Amino acid sequence: MFRKTLVNLVLVLVMLLTLGLSAVSAAPLAQEELSYTIKLGDTLWALGEKYLGSGFAWPALMAATNQKTIEDSTFAYIANADVIHPGWKLAVPSEEEAEAFMAAYDPDKPALLFGKRASGQLIVGSWWTAGGEAEGLAGMFRIYREKYPDVEIVNATMAGGAGTNFKAGLKTRLIGGDPEDTFQLHAGLEAESYSAEQYLEPLDDLYASEGLEAVFPADLVTMLKAYGGHYWGVPVNIHRSNVLWYNKAVFEANSLTPPANFDEFVTVAEALRAAGITPFVLGSKDGWEAGHIFEDILAGTLGAEKYNGLWTGDTPWTGADVAQALENFTMMLGYANPDHSAHTWDSAGEFLIAGTGGMMIMGDWTDGWFTSKGFTGYGWAPPPGTQGIFVALSDSFAMPAAASNVENALNWLKVCGSLEGQEAFNPQKGSICARTDCDPSLFNAYLQSAMVDWGQDAIVASVAHGAAAYESWATDYKDVLTLFVASGDVAAAQAGLQQACVDAGVCQ
Ligand code: GAL
Repeated sequence: MFRKTLVNLVLVLVMLLTLGLSAVSAAPLAQEELSYTIKLGDTLWALGEKYLGSGFAWPALMAATNQKTIEDSTFAYIANADVIHPGWKLAVPSEEEAEAFMAAYDPDKPALLFGKRASGQLIVGSWWTAGGEAEGLAGMFRIYREKYPDVEIVNATMAGGAGTNFKAGLKTRLIGGDPEDTFQLHAGLEAESYSAEQYLEPLDDLYASEGLEAVFPADLVTMLKAYGGHYWGVPVNIHRSNVLWYNKAVFEANSLTPPANFDEFVTVAEALRAAGITPFVLGSKDGWEAGHIFEDILAGTLGAEKYNGLWTGDTPWTGADVAQALENFTMMLGYANPDHSAHTWDSAGEFLIAGTGGMMIMGDWTDGWFTSKGFTGYGWAPPPGTQGIFVALSDSFAMPAAASNVENALNWLKVCGSLEGQEAFNPQKGSICARTDCDPSLFNAYLQSAMVDWGQDAIVASVAHGAAAYESWATDYKDVLTLFVASGDVAAAQAGLQQACVDAGVCQ
């Protein structure tokens, strides 16, 4: 009865609530304990006093709990503030959140106490249109729809591997103030190319409230904060750039094993050629693929440490080893399909599936693509020289500062970081989880091998996919390699790579 009187009183004295909240000191829960399980004798009033600094803040507790139960049914639904039961799980907002809620709360409109189902749109930008990646994305959409059934997802994709077309369009939309609500962003230095401080929302608060820092490996966390010390995206995966895929039946028929070094590559390629098979399949149509393959050749020729040094200025681009890497690439190109400039990474992969091509170097989205095509006859190995090296990249989702549907975007980012989101996405995408707690049994043999390698290899950053260098440098690098594939001029390419490093301000 006494409680009821207080509850009624609060409806009248709402103007005083904010004052009351800031005046009394509370006992906030630690970030990782944002929930509370009701014990015998608890009242919302007393819990408001204990956790939010004032009993008057009970509506904030009720509203937070009723909001939370919409997406997580382990939380209670409180229909009547005076009727709560031991064992019920409450969501406890922070003092700031409670204050903000009480400032907006109007007792004449009690609907706010009962939670609001998310509605409207969620516009998701990415370049995931190929087999495997499209299915992975659809898997995350399914999880999102289960939680937020009233939100319409707009799948705003733009085809073009590695984001070649998507990234340019996104820049225009960001500058024009009309971006997607969330978009695909490589972990690492890529954030700089979107002037992150100006156009993106830092996600540090989300990381704190969702406890995300603890669920990703340290190497990845470092990569995520590489630009400006802030989190700009929530990672959904870890991809490997350096994989040599081969057609198992072709290799078996010719008694071949995948080449571990460049000399062996020649031997294997000669045998394939003699058998009438294109030894090395390649698509270079979109202008990034040569740069991708060459980063793996650089790692395989220079080793992990010297490869890293290329991006910090510690390894010169003018050295004999870089020239050797270009020679190695020349050798491989000599075994490639002559029509590579007409092919994308996936259309080139068709040669491998058909058994008219023997080997291909491409990131492990190829595993998702093969799977989506129902092709199981593929083998994998580190490209020449890269045993024990994992050339890594990670896809994350970011939120523009000008996103129209902020709540929906934040909910999307929570799904991106969640275990269920990552388990729905990665087995189809052909990547391993960014989280460390995914169930390995959901993944195929290739991906299980990638998990093992990620745990034991030297991790180096991919430049072709936004991790190792600023986008402007990465673009110059890729342009040099695209030109090289056409010209074959080693000296000119090496000079171009050095110039790109100078222009980036890293080399003298
Ligand atoms: C990468 C991206 C991968 C995959 C690939 C091919 O940049 O990180 O997720 O989409 O491009 O488009």
